[in-house]
Amino acid sequence: MRRRHDRALGRLVYTAVLAAGLLGCDPASGDVRQWTAADHDPPSPNEGQGGKVAARPVASTETDQGLIELAWQRNCASCHGRAGRGDGPQGPMVRAPDLTNAAWQERVTDAQMAETIKKGKDKMPAFDLPQPVIDGLVKRIRSSRAR
Ligand code: HEC
Repeated sequence: MRRRHDRALGRLVYTAVLAAGLLGCDPASGDVRQWTAADHDPPSPNEGQGGKVAARPVASTETDQGLIELAWQRNCASCHGRAGRGDGPQGPMVRAPDLTNAAWQERVTDAQMAETIKKGKDKMPAFDLPQPVIDGLVKRIRSSRAR
């Protein structure tokens, strides 16, 4: 009696596994693309360092600066120029000021700069950018100050 019960249970488990296996192979269900080498995760730069692998790349100051640089070149350089001197292609047309000017930098506060970027001013359009990006752009302008 015990044996028969076990056999029946075994068959039940077997059937369940088989059914699951078949479901898994059903071409209509889910993602069944052909596996390619690209499906491999790229090798982690942390690999081999005591077996610790970061789940996600940690935001580094370096990548943040890359993003700010990109935001500047995309949104600001057309008027203010690559370095902020007001010599972008549209600079003269809108009279973009030289943001590296030391005297201006003395007068203006970070908050005022951020305000101008967010709200615009005259020919300067408003930019709806995330606050960390605005802060980064302000820092970038500060670091471009002419000595
Ligand atoms: C279409 C051209 C244009 C673009 C694009 C532009 N600006 Fe300007 N910007 C101006 C002009 C013109 C002024 C001068 C505004 C005024 O004082 O009348 C100005 C002024 C400024 C000022 C100084 C404001 C002050 O206090 O005198 C800052 C800071 C500034 N821009 C930052 C930026 C940043 C950062 C970006 C990109 C996110 C940007 N600008 C994009 C044209 C532009």
